Amino acid sequence: MKNIVVLVSGGGTNLQALIDAEHRGEIKGGHITCVISSRADAYALERAKAAGIKTRVLVRKEYPDIAAYSKAMLEALLEEKADLVVYAGFMTILDEQVCKAFPYKMMNVHPALIPSFCGKGFYGLHVHEAVLAKGVKVSGATVHFVTEECDGGPIILQGTVNVENDDTPETLQHRIMENVEWKLLPKAVSLFCEGRITIKDGKAYVDQQ
Ligand code: GAR
Repeated sequence: MKNIVVLVSGGGTNLQALIDAEHRGEIKGGHITCVISSRADAYALERAKAAGIKTRVLVRKEYPDIAAYSKAMLEALLEEKADLVVYAGFMTILDEQVCKAFPYKMMNVHPALIPSFCGKGFYGLHVHEAVLAKGVKVSGATVHFVTEECDGGPIILQGTVNVENDDTPETLQHRIMENVEWKLLPKAVSLFCEGRITIKDGKAYVDQQ
């Protein structure tokens, strides 16, 4: 069984999707062992506690810089013996010391179709605001491996939704979460735990069988 550590910062609906998928037996070969939050008031922590999952809090603002925060996070991940680290609405960028320690063992869900609407500054509702401002007709979400390049690691799974004329950032966010994120993140986690994702020439190949 692989130890899955989930990193969160907010409401934790993606964490809930992972917890529910595990309860339904859909995370094959893995088990959520710890949830680490960058905020003490994240509702995601309540979801973890309700599911009986160990929680830890590492508040970003209590560290002088990203390097010090990343060092503390790396120590926590090693203590938890993480086999897979999942960013589920985790809003802090960790530096290369963490990426190097967990090569192709960290995945993130991003609420847009990478390589569009991604990178620094594109997080949460800001992503959907930018999508609507541009007037694109299709958006979606991407699950990808985390590397040193923000939102630039190998893409594992993507799914789409139509953008409607009367969408607000909130309605679009919810449609993408419900139709794509909450389904694809547990699926990608299970694929990883089953050993069905391989990396070749910097790209991820998924054995969908
Ligand atoms: C999700 O839409 C996730 O894709 C996004 O934040 C939301 C968190 O919701 N993540 C990012 O923007 C990361 N760049 P949740 O806390 O309810 O899972």
